[in-house]
Amino acid sequence: MKRKTILKIVVDIGMTVMLLLLMTYELIGEAAHEWLGIGIFGLFIIHHILNRKWSRCVFKGKYTLFRIWQTILAIGILLTMIGSMYSGVILSEHALSFLPIKGGRAFAREVHMLSAYWGFVLMSLHLGLHWSIMMGMAKRFVKEPSTAGKWLLRGIAAFIAGYGVYASIQREIGRYMLLENHFAFFDFEEPLIFFLADYMAVMALFVWVSHYFSKGLRYIIQIRKTK
Ligand code: HEM
Repeated sequence: MKRKTILKIVVDIGMTVMLLLLMTYELIGEAAHEWLGIGIFGLFIIHHILNRKWSRCVFKGKYTLFRIWQTILAIGILLTMIGSMYSGVILSEHALSFLPIKGGRAFAREVHMLSAYWGFVLMSLHLGLHWSIMMGMAKRFVKEPSTAGKWLLRGIAAFIAGYGVYASIQREIGRYMLLENHFAFFDFEEPLIFFLADYMAVMALFVWVSHYFSKGLRYIIQIRKTK
């Protein structure tokens, strides 16, 4: 495997882990949250440098349904990343508290809440869009399972996605995205691992939905081509 591909995988795994930890906010400590926020922004920039071919071609070529969906997600993620950083700088009380940008805290709080939860969902959908590529890479390291094994894995994935629906309702992800909850609720009695497991299931749900949705889009494109 090429060094650049390995670096891409490391950066993508790093961003996924950091995103999950960021969603725990106070449960991992305020200062740790801020440093992780700065870290994910750094990886986001590296991710774009490594995938710069895609950005260079944004205004070139034909837009298929798949490409339109991919571009909408990319623009959404860019907006949420800018939103998280802009509001993070204003709200910071540790890592960036020395910066003289302090005004508009109430607005920054709302921007941070919206950017965090929309960003979480959009990044999970983005991950699902490229799931086939990741599975292709995984095949290089592990033997391809039998047909029965594949169905078992699909069943497990569907079960986790199903639990993700329950977890997203329990954790009120939709209410945060619609700004119906103005303050994030964190239960300090709850072990961190339970919180992370639920958010992983919510992430898996959106990865699952996006994976099958993009498969559907690719199928439509293929059918249109053969007509
Ligand atoms: C992609 C990056 C980030 C994500 C996903 C994220 C996520 C979150 C979440 C889920 C919360 C709790 C809900 C809320 O109060 O909004 C939160 C709060 C907070 N985050 Fe972030 N964050 C990110 C980046 C940052 C950065 C870079 C900083 C500062 C350097 C920061 C500072 C804060 C602060 C100060 C709060 C508490 C806000 C308040 O007082 O209401 N975050 N973040």
